[in-house]
Amino acid sequence: MNLIDKLNETVAVIKEYYTEAPVAAVVLGSGLGNFKEQMQVECEIPYEDIPHFPVSTVEGHRGTLIFGKLDGRAVVCMAGRFHFYEGYSPAEVAYPIRVLKFLGVQVLLLTNAAGGMHPQHQVGDLMFITDHISMFTHNPLLGPNEPELGPRFPDMSEPYSRSLLAAARQVAAQHQIEVHEGVYVSVTGPTFETPAEYRMLYRLGADAVGMSTVQEVIVARHMNLPVFAMSVITDLGGHDVLHAITHKEVLEAAAAAEPKMTTIMRGLIASL
Ligand code: HPA
Repeated sequence: MNLIDKLNETVAVIKEYYTEAPVAAVVLGSGLGNFKEQMQVECEIPYEDIPHFPVSTVEGHRGTLIFGKLDGRAVVCMAGRFHFYEGYSPAEVAYPIRVLKFLGVQVLLLTNAAGGMHPQHQVGDLMFITDHISMFTHNPLLGPNEPELGPRFPDMSEPYSRSLLAAARQVAAQHQIEVHEGVYVSVTGPTFETPAEYRMLYRLGADAVGMSTVQEVIVARHMNLPVFAMSVITDLGGHDVLHAITHKEVLEAAAAAEPKMTTIMRGLIASL
């Protein structure tokens, strides 16, 4: 079955559950699953009930598509995402993003947990992603192009929407939330980086490193969907601190930073 037919089939099944077209899609990263508490949930679909959706396997990733309202605006939220390190192909990782576009969303808002490499980063800080480095991971557009979805050679001069970034800055300022801005580099994981790897990634121009997001952004931009993305710094690399990182620590730091992230997402959605 070709990709467009698959997408139409997925969307047809979702529409049997919920018909309203959401304005914004929010993807929740590790430890950030409580965003749903802010929503008036109208419909929640487990990924396993959605045809052609991969099923999430990581602890802390719940695996449901949630439809509802946030301050009266129709939103859809992916609680649980797919990662290359789980064994999915890059195209599978990004498939749900294509579905969100087919559902009619106008913007894609992404969150993730990331290792901070910039010397000013502290655990629990937020970083708005202004650009990314994707070259340590596989591009989800490798293989035949589907011209109905987007061009063979997509432009990446504005991976993260300047106007969404400007709106997010305003929200952060209004609520006196300090945020960093910087470059996110994606790696495959599942190992965290060695001290030498953190140093290398920082020297290459990245401020934070993580195992998600970039493949989703590439597919969104292929379809000309505007993107905003934000990292919660859950651990520090390259600060000459020799400290073992655990998944538990990442989840806890993300959960602690969640209220700030939620405030920004909420304000951003209200500004659309
Ligand atoms: N490295 C890669 N991925 C991550 C990290 C990290 O330090 N923290 C959270 N996700």
